[in-house]
Amino acid sequence: MSELNLILLGPPGAGKGTQAARLRKDFDLAYIATGDLLRSHVADETELGREAAAYMDAGKLVPDPLVIAMILDKVEEEGDDGFLLDGFPRNDAQADALGEELDQLGRRLTAALLVEAPDDIVIERLSGRRTCANGHVQHVTFDPPKVDGMCDLCGRPLKQRKDDQPDVVQKRLETYHEQTESLIDYYDEKGLLRRFDGTRSPTEVHDHIRATLATLRLEERL
Ligand code: AP5
Repeated sequence: MSELNLILLGPPGAGKGTQAARLRKDFDLAYIATGDLLRSHVADETELGREAAAYMDAGKLVPDPLVIAMILDKVEEEGDDGFLLDGFPRNDAQADALGEELDQLGRRLTAALLVEAPDDIVIERLSGRRTCANGHVQHVTFDPPKVDGMCDLCGRPLKQRKDDQPDVVQKRLETYHEQTESLIDYYDEKGLLRRFDGTRSPTEVHDHIRATLATLRLEERL
């Protein structure tokens, strides 16, 4: 079977992480989530984490040199049989670096999966999102925990991410529009972009992505 090398694009809160969790179950792909990796550096108080925290808390992008090396090393270490990148690339320089790395490895991207949602929906979703220490995600309105404040899956306390505070969400959205949105044209021009309506239910979005990937694989075999 041909390898799948995928990236997930879209504004914060569009549902990239939600879809990634499902796609990982469907396809045995290395999942490399920039935000998760950075948050674990922050929690472990590494040098990188200390440097990244101020940018993340302000809703800004962490500087390219820190992020590019971290992600490309992971792709090389874990992505031999295919990968799913969530949160990378986030600007043209990161996209160029990824393209060059894949060229050097003699590999190529299968598709850039764009999950789209308008700003008002994103703000509502992120302000109600709660996460446990195991990374499970729930929403106070759309997926309320059975026991208040506790994760349905593992029973650990649910917390709000620092950058899900309304003023930081606003800043993250601005950063997305200013620096990341241009990647839509970047990948469209390469014929790699596939669009998904993130305002549909998680199951509908997932079904659409799976159907698209099945078609891509069929086309590759022709
Ligand atoms: P990161 O962790 O990557 O955050 P993000 O892209 O802002 O995305 P989120 O994880 O917040 O949203 P999501 O789209 O995954 O939504 P989710 O599925 O959880 O980055 C954090 C920070 O790290 C950045 O701000 C930056 O500082 C730094 N960083 C990261 N990558 C970087 C890079 N490459 N370069 C430099 N800096 C970088 O869903 C959200 C909510 O909606 C949940 O409650 C969920 O249950 C609900 N939901 C999801 N789908 C649906 C649906 N279809 N219908 C209804 N509700 C839904």
